[in-house]
Amino acid sequence: MFCQKDKFDLEPHLHYINGAYMSPQLKAVEAAGLAAVSRKNRPYSIAPEDFFSGKKRLRALFAQLIHAPSAEHVAFIPSVSYGIGIVARNVSIKPGQTIVLTEAQFPSNVYSWLRLAEEQGAEIITVPMPEARENRGQIWNERILDAIDGRTAVVAMGHIHWATGTLFDLKAISDKVHAAGGVLVIDGTQSVGALPHDVQALGVDALICGGYKWLMGPYGFGYAYLSERFWNGVPLEENWINRENSENFADLTNYRATYQPGALRFDVGESSNFIMVAMCTAALEQLLEWGQESIQAYCHDLTRDAVVQWQARGYWADDARYRAQHLFGIQLPDGADPLALQQQLKAKNILVSVRGGFVRISPNVYNDPADIAALSAVL
Ligand SMILES: Cc1ncc(COP(=O)(O)O)c(C=O)c1O
Repeated sequence: MFCQKDKFDLEPHLHYINGAYMSPQLKAVEAAGLAAVSRKNRPYSIAPEDFFSGKKRLRALFAQLIHAPSAEHVAFIPSVSYGIGIVARNVSIKPGQTIVLTEAQFPSNVYSWLRLAEEQGAEIITVPMPEARENRGQIWNERILDAIDGRTAVVAMGHIHWATGTLFDLKAISDKVHAAGGVLVIDGTQSVGALPHDVQALGVDALICGGYKWLMGPYGFGYAYLSERFWNGVPLEENWINRENSENFADLTNYRATYQPGALRFDVGESSNFIMVAMCTAALEQLLEWGQESIQAYCHDLTRDAVVQWQARGYWADDARYRAQHLFGIQLPDGADPLALQQQLKAKNILVSVRGGFVRISPNVYNDPADIAALSAVL
């Protein structure tokens, strides 16, 4: 793949290596959004069937991206906390059972579990990040597997860690949690869109994704994959369009107990959102055209040699087997302050994040070798 910068509107003097914060907007996504904004100037141009058709296509695109068995496995959510809330409301957990988390994961995949554990008398087990600099990713994966036993009801984590980029072996984890009778819940916000994901091959029960980072959509719209085990569950709210036969606008007050099929009962209210759905559709079409394998390969080629040089200069990054290519945290040589480095980088127009003591580097297909060379020069 060649650099795709021309499909974005980034300022040429900036080195934006911070897709984990928020993706820049594709020009195609901006155009789709602007057209959709204007559409409501003439409300009669939005027909009742449009409340369903846009969502149907978007559901199918997301299902394709994550290899879900069908589009009906996908629900639309406004945030990760909302998606995790759906899952937490619909897992069975008894006193004394455990919920396994990884250290320092994003709070939207923590707070619901803390509440559930408190309400149900369950125990939270947080698997610590190893201090070891060598084989840290491997040791962390081993520790997670060790934490899963016959008491485990839920493992809730990321496919990668959002600050370090550590890659987790979801297949091994799902095998173990399923043998214990529990479920695997993944926050895919920092991976899906840039890192290949196959919910069926990996054995993921719920995959919750914010849409404005690697999925390149607008802020405020995301996706939940929910396996069949959730399909009889209770939604967080009771929206009219999620009920059976809501296509018939003349008959809505003929209230029904039954829902639309599959995971559709969990869609957030007003998920037909004509602006967001149009923008997300343009974004997923582009991502599917690129392919997530190509995005990983592009980011790998971009950073491979540079990371080796940084490691030789005393920076820590996990070895390539245990880190994602599109997002990884580096730790600075002894005692150096990551926030001070972030400021030095900013002075040279290089934009990255600091999360939990790590300087988080998160390139994508709009970056080029000049961006990484600029970063290397400051490091
Ligand atoms: C891993 C991860 N999950 C979730 C979110 C966002 O959560 P929410 O959609 O609940 O605001 C972020 C934002 O940085 C994130 O990095």
